[in-house]
Amino acid sequence: MNGPWVEKYRPQTLDEVVGQDHIILRLKRYVKEGSLPNLMFTGPAGVGKTTTAIALAKEVLGEYWRQNFLELNASDARGIDTVRNDIKSFSRLKAVGSPFRIIFLDEVDNMTKDAQHALRREMEMYTKTSSFILSCNYSSKIIDPIQSRCAIFRFAPVKGHQIIGRLEYIAEAENLNISTGAIESIVYFAEGDVRRAVNILQASASLDEEITEDSIHDVVSKAKPKDVRKIVNKALDGDFLSARELLRDVMVVQGTSGEDMVTQIYQEVSRMVLEKRIREDIYINLIESIGETDYRIREGSNPRIQLEALLTKFLINAKAD
Ligand SMILES: Nc1ncnc2c1ncn2[C@@H]1O[C@H](COP(=O)(O)OP(=O)(O)OP(=O)(O)O)[C@@H](O)[C@H]1O
Ligand SMILES: [Mg+2]
Repeated sequence: MNGPWVEKYRPQTLDEVVGQDHIILRLKRYVKEGSLPNLMFTGPAGVGKTTTAIALAKEVLGEYWRQNFLELNASDARGIDTVRNDIKSFSRLKAVGSPFRIIFLDEVDNMTKDAQHALRREMEMYTKTSSFILSCNYSSKIIDPIQSRCAIFRFAPVKGHQIIGRLEYIAEAENLNISTGAIESIVYFAEGDVRRAVNILQASASLDEEITEDSIHDVVSKAKPKDVRKIVNKALDGDFLSARELLRDVMVVQGTSGEDMVTQIYQEVSRMVLEKRIREDIYINLIESIGETDYRIREGSNPRIQLEALLTKFLINAKAD
């Protein structure tokens, strides 16, 4: 296959970016004015932060954008000094063929506080020649003096119907034979992350001629939603042995990890309370146990034992009903 689709189908213009409508609208104003304050893009992975930064650079810098655009990873293993040197040698030169230069710094939330203070000084030193675009997952990890020097843009997880549109577009361009159920199940697993959605699509296309829901589950190695529902329902019905049996099946056969399993149980239980299929007080009890289980698994406890212990909590609550 010809390279990763996430790159092949990376939007090249602001208009092509899916979702994030408010952000795109505001950024287009900068393009029109031909000037750019320092910007900060925050939000979860795979929702278009890097893509938008590059598309914006192209539109605002024009033909010579490549020469006037510097992309750096702030958490670069070579250390913050390398990053600062790169910024320095880039910003010292005058912009050629465009009004100013853009420095795009990815993963700024991985920088130490000291490094961030150093970065702040660079930002001040080069304001005349360069605009900074900083990207991070959590703006709360960025020191205030940097935040207050940037216009902040909060990227949201991309909505299901918008991801569907993107997947259908790629599926058509690649001539894929994919069912509606399969597309919906990609959206379910992607949880708003377009990169993950496109990766799942490509992986399943390389497995099967005809992409079905099953192809997707083979690729993501997560439990099928209907199996999770069954496990939860059996436990709440007081049928511990069947619930445990099914849990083991799913974890062994599908290779679902303990972390993923807890998350999926959490999603299922949350859906149940919204649809009024379980009482709120039971939900509150369960959520506490789910949180505890999640924590213990992440701390390294045996996931099977922890998940079975969680199922017993479901039983106790079922009996209380
Ligand atoms: N909003 C979007 N519209 C269309 N495609 C998208 C969008 N967001 C992500 N993608 C797809 O996912 C890939 C990765 O997106 P991008 O690099 O912009 O994510 P990011 O938000 O910077 O994530 P990270 O926090 O991991 O750096 C893109 O190349 C593109 O294929
Ligand atoms: Mg990025």
